[in-house]
Amino acid sequence: MSPSLRSGVTAALLTASSMSAGSAALAQEAPVIRLPAPATAGGQALTHALARRRSVRAFQDAPLRLADVGQLLWAAQGVTAETPEPAGWRSEWGAWRGGLRTAPSAGALYPLEVYLVAGRVEGLDPGVYHYVPGEHVLQRVGECGPGELAGAASSQRAVADAAAVLVFTAVYQRTEVKYRERAPRYVHIEVGAAAENALLQATALGLGSVFVGAFTDGAVKKVMGLPADHVPLGLVPVGRPGE
Ligand SMILES: Cc1cc2nc3c(=O)[nH]c(=O)nc-3n(C[C@H](O)[C@H](O)[C@H](O)COP(=O)(O)O)c2cc1C
Repeated sequence: MSPSLRSGVTAALLTASSMSAGSAALAQEAPVIRLPAPATAGGQALTHALARRRSVRAFQDAPLRLADVGQLLWAAQGVTAETPEPAGWRSEWGAWRGGLRTAPSAGALYPLEVYLVAGRVEGLDPGVYHYVPGEHVLQRVGECGPGELAGAASSQRAVADAAAVLVFTAVYQRTEVKYRERAPRYVHIEVGAAAENALLQATALGLGSVFVGAFTDGAVKKVMGLPADHVPLGLVPVGRPGE
């Protein structure tokens, strides 16, 4: 483990084996970084953020606060109601994923997996992190930073210069088990909803962001080291707005 990861988040650093029994989505033995609890009240009015959201593609060198990164990830896919498995839940739909989230999901099957490619984030080494909604933690899973990720996205400056990039991926099979041929439609609706949550949250935090759809799927998977069934659907570079 690198020095900044050790020193920046020492109190928050756990190993997967020490997490609670509900941590099925945590990869064993990968370092876990507990994010600051998200704000669930207050902040800028939604109408204000809606009126001001604009695609921002130039960023300052300034780092992001870990709390802001956590807030963005929570806005995208955070758990807002821990609920027990509903009556009538069928085993063929897979395991109940434990809670309802900020963005809607067809059948509450939650096909999205969100990653953070960190460049300049206080307390985080540059690298690839997987967001685990039920625990509101990150798990470090790879080494690439925004500069390398940009190579898989037509070298777009917004990606290369971002302080961090949220990467929205989907496991289509989770939705296909119930909705069959309508699954792609539902998954794509869901990624739009989740990404818009993050874009509006960024605006409300005074940060710049943009939805990026122009990238090569296979190249993103390779540079980030994604699991084979995690299909990248969108990148959201974030940073303090620049010139
Ligand atoms: C599906 C989708 C894909 C997009 N892909 C890119 C992209 O690859 N690069 C980029 O700079 N902007 C991208 N955008 C942002 C649009 O260019 C932008 O939303 C549009 O110009 C309207 O401007 P606004 O977002 O400031 O309102 C994308 C937007 C959407 C919805």
